[in-house]
Amino acid sequence: MYDIEKIRKDFPMLNNKTMQNKPLVFLDNASTTFKPQCVIDEINRYYLETNANSHRGDYDLCYNMDVEVSKTRETVAKFINSEINEVVFTSGDTEAINLVAYGYCLDNLKKGDQILISVYEHASNVLPWYRICELTGAEVVFANLENKRVTPNTVKEAFKKYKNIKLVALAHVSNVLGYVIDIKEITKIAHANNALVLCDGAQSVPHMPIDFKDLDIDFLTFSAHKMVGPTGIGCLIGKYDLLQKMSTFHLGGGMNVKFNKLGEIIPLDAPSKFEAGTLNLSAIMGFRKAIEYLNNIGMENIVKHEKELSSYVRNKLKGHDNIIIYNEDATSGILTFNIKGVFAQDEATLLNSKGIAVRSGQHCAKMIDEVIGEPATVRMSTYFYTSKEEIDIFVENLINGGDILDAYFFN
Ligand code: ALA
Repeated sequence: MYDIEKIRKDFPMLNNKTMQNKPLVFLDNASTTFKPQCVIDEINRYYLETNANSHRGDYDLCYNMDVEVSKTRETVAKFINSEINEVVFTSGDTEAINLVAYGYCLDNLKKGDQILISVYEHASNVLPWYRICELTGAEVVFANLENKRVTPNTVKEAFKKYKNIKLVALAHVSNVLGYVIDIKEITKIAHANNALVLCDGAQSVPHMPIDFKDLDIDFLTFSAHKMVGPTGIGCLIGKYDLLQKMSTFHLGGGMNVKFNKLGEIIPLDAPSKFEAGTLNLSAIMGFRKAIEYLNNIGMENIVKHEKELSSYVRNKLKGHDNIIIYNEDATSGILTFNIKGVFAQDEATLLNSKGIAVRSGQHCAKMIDEVIGEPATVRMSTYFYTSKEEIDIFVENLINGGDILDAYFFN
């Protein structure tokens, strides 16, 4: 049985009060997530018990860290079903996408080539491509949308319209609209047209079971901090032959076999050739614990709980015509809305004064206005530890929350 009360006890942050001494209702989980005590303890264990570098010494502590890093790599690989040597540790999703941009696209794209994305992508899945296009003469092109999302259909259209797409780079789940796209079918279409696929899994890997091999995507990127793990660690998962062909992005210790006075560098094989410098070791240990924790809860249970909350909140908001929802039919934990006549940031500020944390604005997806026709929205986002009671508080305050002046003058 899904015991939400028991789960919530694992997260110390859920007991905190806000700066206004109100119980904290955290509904910004698409931005980052809270960490269970076991993850916090594991991060501390590095500093208290296992503090040494990995791959850099012949003493037990160092050897032990090699084992810790390998165990996390193995745990990640099992979690998303890839080979162990297809897991590259990065500082997060953003660095992982940049690694593909600089490690693969810079060498392999040329003038006239195209990268297909969508207008609702997060900055991290737009700006690296813009820069690569500046450097190579390639161009970024945009897929049309159907029901505010990229579909196999619109990707087919794009391949008809643009003749030189070499990479399709799409968010599996939009961080603003929460729609899950059919990345497996899209990948089939891309591969049939000789293009590679990068799937930005920042908002999907934490929330649903993902099978890298079954989806057949070429690259998958995600961050640990959005899945109850530490900040500063994430992954690029890449098909091994592609990783081997890619250039190194960061250079330094730990990524080379040898270098000489002639400037020749022999890199290690993937994934090590991408992991120059000392790894974020405490975070790597915490990341493993986070995945173990998620496995314990069960990814299918997480999907179920978030779907339940998604319909719960939408049902509660039915009939309140002054609340405009921009993703009514999304089944993930993201609800994006505005209150008629109220600026999004004012609404978020008002909710903050009631102890409710949500995000407002464009949510790093600065072309999103082309999809929803609004310059700014409020986004609330849940996770598996979000309770119905928290949704009740959110809805109650949304409906009867008062005026923005309450937030500024009376709290
Ligand atoms: N990507 C994070 C968000 O959507 C920061 O809020």
